[in-house]
Amino acid sequence: MIEKYPDKALLKDELYKYLLQASDEAIDSHGRFLVALSGGSALKLLSESLTGKRRKENINWQAWHLFWADERCVNLESSQSNYAATKKMLLDAVNIPSSQIHPVNTTLSPEKAAEDYEKKILAILDISQNALPQFDLIVLGFGEDGHTASLFPHHKLLREQKRIAASLEDSPKPPPARITLTLPVINNARNIAIVAAGGYKYKIAVSSDTSLPIKMINPVCGNIKWFLTDKSS
Ligand code: 6PG
Repeated sequence: MIEKYPDKALLKDELYKYLLQASDEAIDSHGRFLVALSGGSALKLLSESLTGKRRKENINWQAWHLFWADERCVNLESSQSNYAATKKMLLDAVNIPSSQIHPVNTTLSPEKAAEDYEKKILAILDISQNALPQFDLIVLGFGEDGHTASLFPHHKLLREQKRIAASLEDSPKPPPARITLTLPVINNARNIAIVAAGGYKYKIAVSSDTSLPIKMINPVCGNIKWFLTDKSS
């Protein structure tokens, strides 16, 4: 479902309600909330929607497990790291147990980091090697070129069917080396929230160009909701 809000403040209000409900439902059904976040402006909108005082107290952070839909292969303290941005915008303000925060190990080579991340996902989700992980929620943003996570237009990783996470070293958006969840894993999520603000992003969201990675996001059996505004403030 595509929802267009008149401004960012209303978008964040609705995103907060949605996140609270997704978290409560997952915790009621299986005792924890398995979430994968993205970087960029979607992360900022999400963090702002969650961290207001009266809001963050309503959320059972103790049951959250945090992963990333993609990560840049840089030091986890670098300003380019999605983990670092999440720490600054969200983790420092809320109380998720550190043992439940699962960043990509970017000290490894990109290929090894992707393998290590896959193993981590299988272990935490407690599934066998051949099973497809199911996150409770994946939050995605998208770029001006229609990329989402680190899945870029016409890139060969869009055809990846076997891997859970994969590396690329030719990202057109810097930095070039990245780790990303693959399309089958993203589309297997119970809930997908796509979050974006600004006129050009709104145009991409409503375009019919199915070659854009963001338009390839179609959950197999889960729910999808687009949180959009054409306003940049
Ligand atoms: C990344 C992100 C990426 C991001 C889009 C949109 O690490 O690059 O996870 O998928 O969500 O590039 O970024 P902006 O919102 O900053 O345009």
